[in-house]
Amino acid sequence: MSEAQTAQQGNGPAGPSGAYRAHFRVWRGEAGAGDLEDFTVEVHEGEVVLDIIHRLQATQAPDLAVRWNCKAGKCGSCSAEINGRPRLMCMTRMSVFDRAETITVTPMRTFPVIRDLVTDVSFNYAKAREIPAFVPPPELAPGEYRMQQEDVGRSQEFRKCIECFLCQDTCHVVRDHEENKAAFAGPRFLMRIAELDMHPLDAAPEAGIDRKTSAQDEHGLGFCNITKCCTEVCPEHIKITDNALIPLKERAADRKYDPLVWLGNKIRRRTE
Ligand code: SF4
Ligand code: SF4
Ligand code: FES
Repeated sequence: MSEAQTAQQGNGPAGPSGAYRAHFRVWRGEAGAGDLEDFTVEVHEGEVVLDIIHRLQATQAPDLAVRWNCKAGKCGSCSAEINGRPRLMCMTRMSVFDRAETITVTPMRTFPVIRDLVTDVSFNYAKAREIPAFVPPPELAPGEYRMQQEDVGRSQEFRKCIECFLCQDTCHVVRDHEENKAAFAGPRFLMRIAELDMHPLDAAPEAGIDRKTSAQDEHGLGFCNITKCCTEVCPEHIKITDNALIPLKERAADRKYDPLVWLGNKIRRRTE
């Protein structure tokens, strides 16, 4: 019996190549209306979920919409939910699933569906635009910047972000609460504020930008109850909660309860 014939036989171990047929349920639809569709697709050894989605497109569903670019876990395009868990399709090996189980692939739930597995993530770009960029220190020319290695390391961790938005997708503050989106930037962008606020050369305060207050008042830092779900799904293993959100909360609280800051604000209010 040929390998191909063996692979046609259903789930379980197959021919010498290790090929088998897996059951997939894939969400198909547009703009909110749609349903899960069942498929049986051939799987080869070493493949990832994105390979199977591509095989589906090539063999059974040529109009299936899916976003991807690098197939290397670096562009952040292929985000979806696999068996309900936010994941990159290109980094999810088929070998992590039992061969007999049905694998469900659905679009990210927090964002509106454009079509099939493709969502409209423009919410994230809008939030990114609301955060003022790094303010260069006026007294230093480019090339004169000096930082402690510890500060460099902190920035480097946050800058590993590939903007897959899986953390934004999983955060319960917005996942089932469309009404919170206006007031909450989400973990990825609170992390961006934390990165800038902790940057030793950021001259935002001199430019009249108070990143801690804006994190609280404009970007919903108080909504975050440090459940760490964002950290759990981050494919870059960034410790979003421990290294960005909790320190930002502490810095914002310090500012609020610092007696000198309190006195300064009071005097400023009186003289205004
Ligand atoms: S730790 Fe905060 S930002 Fe992260 S998922 Fe939980 S509530 Fe959302
Ligand atoms: S912090 Fe992690 S999960 Fe969030 S967008 Fe960046 S890479 Fe993706
Ligand atoms: S295709 Fe680029 S991260 Fe998956």
